[in-house]
Amino acid sequence: MLNFGRSRSQPRAARAMSLGGMDYVDPKRKGNYFGKIVLAAALTTLCIIMIRRSPSLNSPSPFSIREPGVTHVLVTGGAGYIGSHATLRLLKENYRVTIVDNLSRGNLGAVRVLQNLFPEPGRLQFIYADLGDPKSVDKIFSENKFDAVMHFAAVAYVGESTMDPLKYYHNITSNTLLVVENMAKYGVKTLIYSSTCATYGEPEKMPITEETEQHPINPYGKAKKMAEDIIIDFSKNSKMAVMILRYFNVIGSDPEGRLGEAPRPELREHGRISGACFDAARGITPGLKVRGTDYKTPDGTCIRDYIDVTDLVDAHVKALQKATPAKVGIYNVGTGKGRF
Ligand SMILES: NC(=O)c1ccc[n+]([C@@H]2O[C@H](COP(=O)([O-])OP(=O)(O)OC[C@H]3O[C@@H](n4cnc5c(N)ncnc54)[C@H](O)[C@@H]3O)[C@@H](O)[C@H]2O)c1
Repeated sequence: MLNFGRSRSQPRAARAMSLGGMDYVDPKRKGNYFGKIVLAAALTTLCIIMIRRSPSLNSPSPFSIREPGVTHVLVTGGAGYIGSHATLRLLKENYRVTIVDNLSRGNLGAVRVLQNLFPEPGRLQFIYADLGDPKSVDKIFSENKFDAVMHFAAVAYVGESTMDPLKYYHNITSNTLLVVENMAKYGVKTLIYSSTCATYGEPEKMPITEETEQHPINPYGKAKKMAEDIIIDFSKNSKMAVMILRYFNVIGSDPEGRLGEAPRPELREHGRISGACFDAARGITPGLKVRGTDYKTPDGTCIRDYIDVTDLVDAHVKALQKATPAKVGIYNVGTGKGRF
């Protein structure tokens, strides 16, 4: 049986003695208590003085100041597949990066890899926040001095968007509006926006160029097109430098194997080909299931334009360097070649 009664661990002499129902304290021990209290108070005062004098507390966070020669980029969705690769590339090129992510889709493992690679102060900070929360977003922009935003954060599964369209309009369209409003309010000068070839729908004529008309056919593509429209309309009366990049099918990973895509099991059914490849390669799923075998192609499977994620992030860094105030650049980012 377990004994929950108190055991007598101290010898009697060290404890307060009881005389006729009253607690009697040995006077010699009273002096000891007093000494201990004085010592504790002195140590506490010393600690407070040391903490106040500590340079790390007095000096502002490097993320909250503009430093000449340092470009501070806010990477939204930086815990995700493309955002984490973009962060790696930016850090390698000596940018200062703040990641904001609610970890709804990305993973903290990628952030830890990046933090371990770039542990120096002022290189990378991670903020766990939801871009749908106006108060959090305002706080992030007011407490940090960003020079540019790479806005990757989104839910990005075509199939899921048809089942839960409001989630897509909220997460993509409405959150982009909030990001742009805060960029305008806090004077952030450059925006690189993650858009998609899904904004084109199913055009008759191939290849798809930037001049191809946009007629999206699912809520994902429509939500992205609306976000693009918000950005373009805003830009007409703004000095912000904007680049809208419409990606095709992103594939691959960091050649050194440090980052990748780790799709959540519940999203597998919505099938993104990149995630399915990672799952199959890591043995998480028994193999790669090819969906769609009746396309008018030699083997009946779909032909897509695959772009390697490292080439895609290269395009982002170039876009950041070339972005011009008061101008909107719109670029398709693919290879221009279809592959099985
Ligand atoms: N992967 C592709 O093939 C592809 C193609 C075209 C466009 N895109 C676009 O690229 C961007 C990145 O896609 P990805 O493949 O890296 O997706 P991903 O799901 O791996 O990453 C998205 C990240 O955004 C975060 N996020 C989502 N909603 C958020 C919110 N409300 N607040 C904060 N963080 C939030 C997620 O947690 C995740 O880390 C998306 O905008 C997507 O639409 C991707």
